[in-house]
Amino acid sequence: MNFINEPLLELRRAPVRETLVDALAALDAQLPLRVPVIVGGDRRDAPSFESTDPGAPDRVVALATSATTADVDAAVRAASAAAPAWEDRGAHARAAILSRAAGELRRRRSTLAALAVRECAKPWAEADADVCEAIDFLEYYAQQAIALEGSNGLVQLPGERNTIRYAARGVVAVIGPWNFPLAIPCGMVAAGLATGNGVVLKPAEQSPACAHAVVEALLTAGVPEGVINFLPGEGDVGAALVAHPGVHTIAFTGSGAVGLEILRKSTELAPGQRHLKRVVAEMGGKNCVIVDADADLDDVVPALAYSAFGFAGQKCSAASRALVHERIADALLERLHGAVEALLVDQAQRFGVDVPPVIEPATQERVARYLQIARDEGARIYQPSDAPEHGHFVAPAVVDGLPRGSRVAEEEIFGPLLAVQRVASVDEACEIVSDSPFALTGGLFSRDPGTVERVSRALPVGNLYVNRHITGAMVGRQPFGGNRLSGTGTKAGGPDYLFHFVEPRVVTEDT
Ligand code: SER
Repeated sequence: MNFINEPLLELRRAPVRETLVDALAALDAQLPLRVPVIVGGDRRDAPSFESTDPGAPDRVVALATSATTADVDAAVRAASAAAPAWEDRGAHARAAILSRAAGELRRRRSTLAALAVRECAKPWAEADADVCEAIDFLEYYAQQAIALEGSNGLVQLPGERNTIRYAARGVVAVIGPWNFPLAIPCGMVAAGLATGNGVVLKPAEQSPACAHAVVEALLTAGVPEGVINFLPGEGDVGAALVAHPGVHTIAFTGSGAVGLEILRKSTELAPGQRHLKRVVAEMGGKNCVIVDADADLDDVVPALAYSAFGFAGQKCSAASRALVHERIADALLERLHGAVEALLVDQAQRFGVDVPPVIEPATQERVARYLQIARDEGARIYQPSDAPEHGHFVAPAVVDGLPRGSRVAEEEIFGPLLAVQRVASVDEACEIVSDSPFALTGGLFSRDPGTVERVSRALPVGNLYVNRHITGAMVGRQPFGGNRLSGTGTKAGGPDYLFHFVEPRVVTEDT
């Protein structure tokens, strides 16, 4: 396999930054964008909800049409009808189209990054990484699907030929998040398409325009009408899609509460339904970074600050708890406070910004609630910056001195709040992490190879990062996904992801 990650833009170069500034100005001149329902190639444009700029909530980014129950049904039927011919084209032909879609995204990459800046307040570097990851998913799954089609690792005996074929499961319902508004929907859709399924995408209501841009790139690249369908809307649209008896696979990334509801619903058999639904879910986390006494604080502090506060902590991979050896906890806290003070809290479009606005007022309220809990529990709160007035800002905060069992240290907050706790040893930290119901990402800072080996074996997390930041998994290099209540243990961007979108069929021939 010859896969290379799409290179990130070099934002230190002025001409690169100018291209992005121009793209943002061009985008602003077109706002609000219209986002239709797309079913079987037909577009229905009758706006009923809007997405807005988290940094300037008066700015409407998109006027979107909400799908109806009839649209959900029509979309699943369209995907089901179009899927067999799509599957019959074979993996090479499908891969060529996905690769062309990657080319479409490449061609439009500054516009797409600008859209993620506006619709989700992603800082430029994160928005560009989002575009690159979307491209990576398309290219990677295209190649993986070809490999899957050509693979036959079965044992053969004289006089007997055994073959395994990975058939498409049918219709994939994709329910995407807003925090990686291009990459994650694109990845789940690409996996479904690469393996020959029909797909229905329900994007997050906060980011319909970003997801729409991905769908248009796929259609322009030659994905046939009906093979990809698009249903903007609120949670009720997703619920109707999940419940539809014509859906075979549900690929979901989002909150634990919604993921659990999807898993529960997926087991209900509708009258006449002749298959089991499969759920591929990536859910929440409470990601801990363990810092041992021998850690190099020059490495720890910037990596921890970036992991916790990059994109305002709104990544499921973000660090939200640090378990620090008591011998270095004071030194670390002092330096971490300095790093937090130096974070640039500002609008997403400002180059170099660290902490942009959060997606919506509900996030501001949630973080405020957890800060109040910390206050009530007598913890120390360090929150040095003033959040800008306009936009949904939350100033980054470090909390320490929480009592054991504090909800601030144990529940997912999904915002710029880091809880720091002292431990007497790495083993104690491992026990705390192992007690958590979440197991998504984790971090370890240690200079002892024995400790690294021990912790790597002990922690149940899906992605452990050693001596570095804990966000930003790269397609093909760090297959991403969690265990326990963090997800179904499936790894996006990894060599076994496509298996979840196919059903294996074995033929044994007496020759
Ligand atoms: N894949 C993202 C990361 O690794 C999170 O969804 O940061």
